Amino acid sequence: MKRLLILSVLVAGPALAGDTTPAQLIAGYEAAAGAKADAARGKELFLWTQTGGKPDTPSCTTCHGADVTKAGQTRTGKEIAPLALSVTPDRFTDTAKVEKWFGRNCNSVLGRDCTPAEKADLMAWLATQ
Ligand code: HEC
Repeated sequence: MKRLLILSVLVAGPALAGDTTPAQLIAGYEAAAGAKADAARGKELFLWTQTGGKPDTPSCTTCHGADVTKAGQTRTGKEIAPLALSVTPDRFTDTAKVEKWFGRNCNSVLGRDCTPAEKADLMAWLATQ
């Protein structure tokens, strides 16, 4: 059942650039998780130092910084535009992009995919920054 719901989130919209909104993404992840997003939990997950992933990326803040209204940096020193929606307004509007980077980044930091509940929480926090 859960797997079906996740699938329906992934195929819900055409995978075009600018095919969604942060609110739609949050609603989709909430539906897949069967739970309401919790921005405070998303903030904790984002800021916390994890232990399951790659040693050189223990936290989302490793690349994005603890202040998401400021630019971050990749491991190779390339600038990453601020994640905060208030500073980079085209954030979280492309389902494929969000899924691609959640996939890569959660595996780097946590050593596994983020669950739909975690994605809902993270998105709920990031979208209000
Ligand atoms: C190894 C460096 C690195 C780490 C660690 C990292 N990110 Fe990222 N992240 C990136 C890069 C690079 C991009 C793509 C460039 C961009 O969007 O500006 C990105 C993009 C994203 C996006 C897509 C933004 C959009 O515009 O749709 C999200 C969401 C995101 N990251 C969340 C996270 C979360 C949550 C974590 C912690 C679990 C995390 N990132 C950890 C480097 C990282």
